[in-house]
Formats: sequence, structure tokens, C-alpha cells
Amino acid sequence: MSYETLLVERSGAVARVTINRPEKLNALNGKLLGELEDCFRAVGDESEVRVVILTGAGEKSFVAGADISELSVLSPLEAREFARRGQRVFGLIEDLGKPVIAAVNGYALGGGCELAMACSLRVAAENARFGLPEVKLGVIPGYGGTQRLARLIGKGRAIEITTIAEPISAQEAYRLGLVNQVVPAKDLITVCEALAGKIMANAPLAVKFALEAVNHGMEMTLEEGLFLEANLFGLCCATEDMREGTRAFLEKRPPKFTGK
Ligand code: COA
Repeated sequence: MSYETLLVERSGAVARVTINRPEKLNALNGKLLGELEDCFRAVGDESEVRVVILTGAGEKSFVAGADISELSVLSPLEAREFARRGQRVFGLIEDLGKPVIAAVNGYALGGGCELAMACSLRVAAENARFGLPEVKLGVIPGYGGTQRLARLIGKGRAIEITTIAEPISAQEAYRLGLVNQVVPAKDLITVCEALAGKIMANAPLAVKFALEAVNHGMEMTLEEGLFLEANLFGLCCATEDMREGTRAFLEKRPPKFTGK
């Protein structure tokens, strides 16, 4: 896998994807978005990859938003397609079937904050800043921000962040539940790798179904979500790993999961 705007590295079952446009603070232009889609399709299909870590190149920025020079000239119909395309790519990341950890190494503004929210977990460096500043440009978030933020931290805070539109610190993002952890910048990738390791110690199909249950259940009534949960719970019991995991507990030994 070779890209102009992304770096992709593999370390065992972990794929690290680095958005690599540091001279523009990793702003998402059309080229980058297309490569992100191709890259996530590829890592999604690669069965050996169990967890993806997504970060930005440089020490300053994760992603400073959609590329404003491209945004500024869009016609209404082009803008609609622009939003739908970004939503599709971020939807692909959210529904990848394996956990994606955002290692937020700096600015996560606009599309950058929306991208982090499409990931399964967010770990922020202490210097990270989060925000949806789109109304300062005369638009609203278009890559899922208005929807995912309210689902993640609640309507009141989401309205505050999208209308006052001032960036918030990593600590504030943690307090609001927007990020899972805040760590010193130098430890960011190590902490994400350690989280990946903890996830990978668990049964792969159960992890996949847990992600599906939470992601899809969020869009359902409680009753429908519970029905989905029961079905996926049942499906887990068709796996060899369920037999192994429960047997290992009873035999007081660590499980050996095979992903089957
Ligand atoms: N789109 C296009 N270019 C961007 C960008 C974006 N979203 N964010 C940063 N850049 C570019 C700058 O234009 C600049 O390019 P240049 O050197 O060719 O002039 C370069 O990245 C460095 O950014 P700069 O603004 O000089 O850095 P800074 O440290 O002074 O400020 C930010 C950093 C993040 C506060 C500032 O860049 C910013 O506000 N960016 C836009 C954030 C935003 O509104 N995102 C939502 C977009 S919908």
C-alpha cells in the first residue's frame, strides 16, 4: 500500500495510518479523502489486521479540518456531494468491523474532530485541541459532526461546541467524554499500541460484534437494540472462541483465541 498523502505501517496485527500533509496541518483535501477511503477498504479487508491506529504527521496537528481552499469554491450541489463523500468515508471507518483508535496528536478541528469521532476510541495528547469551527466560515459541520458529537457527549454540549465554535483542550474533551484518555504527547503511540494489545487479547469476533452492537444499537430504539444484542450474543455462541474462552476460564488458564 503506497499513498501520496498517507503513510501506512504494519506492526504485527496493528496497522498504523498516518495522515501526511503536515505543511497544511493535515487538512483533508479531495486527494487525501480518496486515499483514506482506499486505505481503510484495504485494511478492513486484510484479515491479519486486528486494530488500526490513525494519527497525523508532525507534532502540531491531527487534522485541521477539510481543506478550506477546496471548500471555498463549492457550488451548493458540489457541497452536497462533498459532504456525502466525507460522510461515506467516515462511515466506512466507523463500521470497519475492527477497532480504529484515533491517536490525536494536535489540532482536531472541523473534519479532524469529525474523523476522530468516527473512530472507535480516541486518545489525545495533552496538546491536542478539539473543535467544530465551521460556523466561523459560514457553514456547518458536514462530515457527521452535528450527529456524532450529540450522540457522543449529549445535545447541550454539542450545541455549545457547534455554535460558540471555540476549540477546547484535551482535558476538557476528556471531561466531556469526547476522548477516552489524555496522555503526554511522547507516550501517545505507545499508549494506543498498549490499548490495541489489550483489545487483541480478546476474542476477535466478539470484539467485532460488540462494536456492531454499540454502533448500530445507537440508531435504534432500546427494544430494537436489545433484540440486536440478543442476536449477536447468540451468534457469539456459534464461534469456537466462545467455547475456548469459557472453557479456559473454567480450567483456570489463559484462552487461545483463533478468530473462528
Ligand atoms: N484548510 C486548508 N489549509 C489549512 C487548513 C485547512 N483547514 N488548516 C491549516 N491550513 C494551512 C494554512 O493555510 C497554512 O498554509 P500556508 O502555510 O500555505 O499559509 C498551514 O496550514 C499552516 O497553518 P497556519 O494557520 O499558518 O497555522 P497556525 O498555527 O497559525 O494556526 C490553526 C493553526 C489550526 C489554528 C489554523 O490553521 C486554523 O484555524 N485552521 C483552520 C481550522 C478550521 O477552520 N477547520 C475547519 C475547516 S471546515
